[in-house]
Amino acid sequence: MYGMVTLGLRDYTIERFGASVWTAAAKASGVEHADFVTTSSYPDSITTACLVAAVQASGVDAATFLEGFGAFWVLRTAEEKYPHVMRAAGGTVDQFFAALPRLHDHVRTLLPELAPPTFSVLKQGEGKFQVTYWSERDGLDPMVVGLLKGIAQRFGTTAQVTMVKLRSSTQDFSLFDVHLADAGKTLSS
Ligand code: HEM
Repeated sequence: MYGMVTLGLRDYTIERFGASVWTAAAKASGVEHADFVTTSSYPDSITTACLVAAVQASGVDAATFLEGFGAFWVLRTAEEKYPHVMRAAGGTVDQFFAALPRLHDHVRTLLPELAPPTFSVLKQGEGKFQVTYWSERDGLDPMVVGLLKGIAQRFGTTAQVTMVKLRSSTQDFSLFDVHLADAGKTLSS
């Protein structure tokens, strides 16, 4: 994955759990001397090792850690590194959810080696969406919950997110129901 993921993970771990937790995680995963670059791509094994070590050092369970990281990714990492991509995705929370399936296409024009997940979004009524998630990676579903909640939070509202179906050996996607408290929220309202 691109360096921005490990850098985002580092920032999240330090802010939420403290610098000593990240130092321990970096040491355990063997990256304490690495200088990650936002726009360089690294083997997934490196990112995963950092993630596993950070979860372990944090003392919380993986799902809690990943959900928090998902929200942090939207609110801080993506916003800091690529604010124009976030803005281009829509001025209302409703538009942003509708644009989710195409968002990483935009990112890929900037980071050509991107191996992003795939999303499809079905609007099911005012402020209600069903989100389908496909990935070549395992175990990141709780991060998706946090990402979806983070999107709502970015627009000053909240989302109830329910994991309806988890990927399994017979089904290659996960399904989430999203219910926004206020679907009409714009960035400035
Ligand atoms: C400016 C906005 C964004 C940027 C620049 C961005 C960039 C990235 C990058 C670099 C990766 C790692 C994949 C790789 O390096 O090959 C990634 C993964 C991912 N992104 Fe985004 N992203 C953005 C917004 C979002 C949003 C809003 C969501 C909300 C659902 C999202 C969901 C994910 C997920 C779930 C992954 C994990 C990889 C996987 O599931 O296979 N991203 N993104």
